[in-house]
Amino acid sequence: MNAAARFDDWDAATHVTNAAPNIVPPAPVSILAAAKPAAMPDIPPKTSNGSADAPNPLALAPIRVADKRIVNGQADINQLAPFKYPWAWEFFLKANHNHWTPLEIGMAQDVRDYHHKLTDGERHVFENVLAYLTTSDILAMRNIGLAVMEKMSAPELQIYQARQVFEEALHTWTYQHCIESIGLEQQEIYNRYRIVPEIHGKIAMASRRLEKVLRSGLDLADRANLHEFALSYFFFAVIFEGCWFYNGFTPIFALQRRGLMKGTAEQLQYIMRDEVLHCAFGIRVIRELLKEEKMVLDPHALRDLWDEAEAAERAYAGYILRDAILGYNADLHIAQFRFIANRRARQIGVAEPFPGAENALPWLDEQANLRKEKNFFETRVTEYQTGGGLAWE
Ligand SMILES: [Fe+2]
Ligand SMILES: [Fe+2]
Repeated sequence: MNAAARFDDWDAATHVTNAAPNIVPPAPVSILAAAKPAAMPDIPPKTSNGSADAPNPLALAPIRVADKRIVNGQADINQLAPFKYPWAWEFFLKANHNHWTPLEIGMAQDVRDYHHKLTDGERHVFENVLAYLTTSDILAMRNIGLAVMEKMSAPELQIYQARQVFEEALHTWTYQHCIESIGLEQQEIYNRYRIVPEIHGKIAMASRRLEKVLRSGLDLADRANLHEFALSYFFFAVIFEGCWFYNGFTPIFALQRRGLMKGTAEQLQYIMRDEVLHCAFGIRVIRELLKEEKMVLDPHALRDLWDEAEAAERAYAGYILRDAILGYNADLHIAQFRFIANRRARQIGVAEPFPGAENALPWLDEQANLRKEKNFFETRVTEYQTGGGLAWE
């Protein structure tokens, strides 16, 4: 297998998609010229003589690829091809190789593990990770579906994001299925982020970022608005999905490595496959957006974002891992957050926020990318009909 062809590998994902060539270079359209609404195409004027060989007055002008843009484009958004962003269509096709439902993964052993094998500290970790994740994925769904998708002005971008919206809903179903299967008290679990400050801190930061760009009619021809939008997209794709989610599954993978809560962990491995693509796609979109708009993200704003995200993650880790569990603790969690943050920064082309951070959990990438392929077929409880594409290469 050619390692560069993997799309489930965090470092390879953006590398692969970067390799896909654009059909045309970015169009030299000014911000002001691009401010026109993108929804409707131009209709050519009727001819004056109305002769039989005159152009059809209802005919529309062909789509010009050069008119397509990430935002503020002028091309008809209802016409898929010609592609300007073929890599976005590739993401959609790849996403359809990871189709599952949580009902297909056995949870019986998890019920026994949770009630009879986990220590109090391990139950505390497990419950709070689920409590955080389930609220987070609803936020992720609302961000893409309500704040981001409507601002995209090329259909190949929106189509992948439509799939992403579905996947975030599927993730929420997955957490609910785990919570329900194990018999956790729903009223208590779902309200936990509201009463635990250390969980609420991460949700509140994401909510603030979302509120800045959620309003419909946000004028992206305005450079300040455009920068705010790019910064929010950066936060959700690079930090929220690329760091917090990636790192957020890890405490449960630590249990899995000891043979505990393997059903839940397998569910999370499927979710992680989706999140790999969400992060890689978001990074690609942001890079293209910045290139098209000849814009750079304000390094001071980025620094603030990283610092705020790290502080929120540190508080969260201190709460969920107030007592270390076998093989995992809060220091490892934060070290790994900083290491992954540097990786994301390199992928998007900005300065590493935490120079010198070390790979504290070298098994994480393997857990995320390789081991699950072995475990997948060992633990699958039903015939898998839709996943012929789950061979990863
Ligand atoms: Fe998700
Ligand atoms: Fe996601």
